[in-house]
Amino acid sequence: MWWRDAVVYQIYPRSFQDSDGDGVGDLRGITQRLDYLSWLGVDAFWLSPIYPSPLADFGYDVSDHTGVDPQLGTLAEVDELVAAAHERGLRVLLDLIPCHTSIEHPWFREHPDWYIWSPVDGPPNNWVSAFGGPAWSRDEQTGRWYLHSFYPEQPDLDWRNPEVVEAMQGVVRFWIERGVDGFRLDAIDRLIKDAELRDDPPASGDFPLPLRQDAAKLKRVYSGNRPEVVQALGSIREAAGEALLVGEVFLPTSEYPRYLEVLDLVFAFELLFSPWDAERLRAAIEPAAALERVAWVMSNHDFDRLASRVGPEHLRDAALLLLTLPGAAFVYQGDEIGMLNGPGADPPFDRAGRDRFRHPMQWDGSENGGFTTGKPWLPPIDPQERNVAAQREDPASLLTHYRHLIAYRREPGDGFRLLDSDPGTLTYERGGGVISVEVDATSG
Ligand code: GLC
Repeated sequence: MWWRDAVVYQIYPRSFQDSDGDGVGDLRGITQRLDYLSWLGVDAFWLSPIYPSPLADFGYDVSDHTGVDPQLGTLAEVDELVAAAHERGLRVLLDLIPCHTSIEHPWFREHPDWYIWSPVDGPPNNWVSAFGGPAWSRDEQTGRWYLHSFYPEQPDLDWRNPEVVEAMQGVVRFWIERGVDGFRLDAIDRLIKDAELRDDPPASGDFPLPLRQDAAKLKRVYSGNRPEVVQALGSIREAAGEALLVGEVFLPTSEYPRYLEVLDLVFAFELLFSPWDAERLRAAIEPAAALERVAWVMSNHDFDRLASRVGPEHLRDAALLLLTLPGAAFVYQGDEIGMLNGPGADPPFDRAGRDRFRHPMQWDGSENGGFTTGKPWLPPIDPQERNVAAQREDPASLLTHYRHLIAYRREPGDGFRLLDSDPGTLTYERGGGVISVEVDATSG
């Protein structure tokens, strides 16, 4: 269980390092930067999707689960990356997207029965897409209505069809045989839906994670988060063997135990969205820590940059917290140098407004931050202000702070208990010591 206290670094491949000057990050670029990850001291990295994709959802609309987007590289380059990582003792996680495919995936036409279709001429229920609007769209070619929990370009697979299960098990085995050490499972609470397609009931009470307006009005008990998900996940586990499975379960912590029957870890999203306030942080941390198998996370490619959310003045404390909570921690590329939300692109690449969190990594103070010699697909934000090269040399930098914390976390040993403390402080026992995180309730 190498992952128990692991630090996992999230790489957004298109924005990490370009090796061929086309302005888009690629696998070779990642391989070239592995020494940085070793220096930082992380145990593993997770690659956001590297598969062929029409890019309606920037890689999360997969058109071939066992291929590589030619802009990012080749299968041989995946092998080189995995080998180079393993030589350095770094483990590799891929993003597995089992709930849907791209509408351009050959399966959609070759195996329409692998997808979920409305039995009537129109949406059969009130389900809504995570990005807003109805979760059903009409397929112009056949006139039938199909389900999509995300963009219309991402039809949902039918996990009640054994052929789908088998196909996805094949995908998992394919990558395991190539040497990957685990998967981050995308949107896994959507894996299986109500067989009768019943309406979701109205929401009751507060939901602790952000939802689009129409999604917030419903309680997701039929369009996802089904009890049957455990069995469906079991088939992924069967193919994955002992590989690490980390679930993206976009639900309150109280819903996680079901998923942890099969998965090793689930992301602690209530921490990611907690205001920077001691009481609220405490309320987010306590139940998640009690599960003993959450992956602590404070930002990713979908939400505000950590620096923009908590404010640059709180970044050291946020890092202290993230990296001293008990269990695995995920760090999103660029957070370790304090990157802020960027301007995004105009017109936007991502219709849901997430370009701002995906600007290129800033390696040095040059114009393109050392990311590319070409024209970057998204502009760099402020490489002169924030970059790896300068912060590496500076013993007082945020990057050095991250590195020290990662080294320090090898030491404390087990034991975690939240302690009573002043309103502006979050204090806990960790291993043998006591850690106090300054939390200013007025910001964040
Ligand atoms: C997950 C991904 C997000 C994507 C969605 C649909 O939430 O993190 O980027 O848009 O799933 O695949």
